[in-house]
Order: sequence, then structure tokens, then C-alpha cells
Amino acid sequence: MKFLLVTLSLLLLFSCNNDAIRLKTLQSEINFLNAKNDSLEKEIQSIKPGLGDLMLEIQVHHNKLWFAGKNEDWPLAQFEHDEIMEILTQAEKIETDRNEVKLFRVMIYPQLDSIQLSITQKNTEHFTSAFTNLTNACNNCHTNTKFNFNKIVIPDHPPYSNQEF
Ligand code: HEC
Repeated sequence: MKFLLVTLSLLLLFSCNNDAIRLKTLQSEINFLNAKNDSLEKEIQSIKPGLGDLMLEIQVHHNKLWFAGKNEDWPLAQFEHDEIMEILTQAEKIETDRNEVKLFRVMIYPQLDSIQLSITQKNTEHFTSAFTNLTNACNNCHTNTKFNFNKIVIPDHPPYSNQEF
């Protein structure tokens, strides 16, 4: 009986010890993964474009969109519209620390829908008024977000000389 009790106590002690070791290993694995996660997060932050970089891209497509529509080059206008949409959607996904991107839905998507309609209908007159509204939308947001010194206008010449419109 005494022998059995000693054996049982030893077994219990051994298994507790084993659990403690497993718990310690698990904890150090969790610490390692947390540290890795932090360093990946820092790396992502350092390589992701800022909202200003994405806006610069939008600025170029806004310009090209105007000359494509004005010259009734509807496939090119469609392409430029889609590029602006793509960048805005990308900004919504990656600029999670910028509240301004939450305004896209109300402040600029309706104007882009209107541009889309004018392209689908190949309607130059509608395109011209929709483009004016789009440009106003750019400025409305800049004003609302205290970036009103970035004034966007309807361009009077294309951004590059090496592309035909
Ligand atoms: C919902 C808000 C919003 C809308 C809509 C918007 N912008 Fe912006 N824009 C911003 C913010 C915020 C900044 C400042 C970004 C920063 O902190 O660098 C900015 C900055 C800019 C800049 C300055 C970039 C630079 O580095 O010189 C340009 C150019 C620009 N926007 C163009 C446009 C154009 C063109 C449109 C419309 C097709 C537009 N934006 C629509 C919010 C908006």
C-alpha cells in the first residue's frame, strides 16, 4: 500500500512537471510569434504607400480621364475611371489609420457612378458635367479634411506628351 502511494505521488509530480514544461514552451512560442507579428507589421507600414502617394496617382488618372472623355475615346475613359476606382478601393483597404478614406463612399463614389453612366451612354455633354461634379467632389473632401490647399481643376493639357488622346 505504501509502495503504491509513493508510486502514485511520483507519477502525479512527474505529470505536473511535464505540463509545466509544455506550458512554458507554448508561452515562449507565443512570445516568438508575437514578436514576429510586430516586426512584420512594422515592415508593412514602411513599404505601404501613403494616402498622399495614392492621391498623386489619382491626380494623373483624373487628368487622363478628362482628355479621354473630351476626345470621345470611351475605352480609354473607361480604363481611367476603373483605375481611379481601383486606387480608391485600395486606399480603403490599406489606409485603415486614415479616417478620410471612410468618406469616399459618400463624397466621391456617386460622382464616379455618374461618370460611368456617361461613358456607357457615350454622352459627351453628360461626361462634361459629371467631370465637373467629380472635380468638385475632390475639392469638397480636401476642404472638409483641411487639405484645401490641394486645389484640383479641370486640366488644360494632358499630363504626358508621349500618349495620344
Ligand atoms: C474623401 C476625401 C478625398 C477625396 C474624395 C479626394 N481626396 Fe485627394 N486628398 C485627400 C487627403 C486626406 C489628402 C492628404 C493626404 C496626405 O495626408 O498626404 C489628399 C491629397 C491629395 C493630393 C496631394 C497629393 C500630393 O502629395 O501632392 C492630390 C493631388 C489629390 N488629393 C488629388 C485628388 C483628386 C484628383 C481627387 C478627385 C478625383 C481627390 N484627391 C479626391 C482626401 C480626398
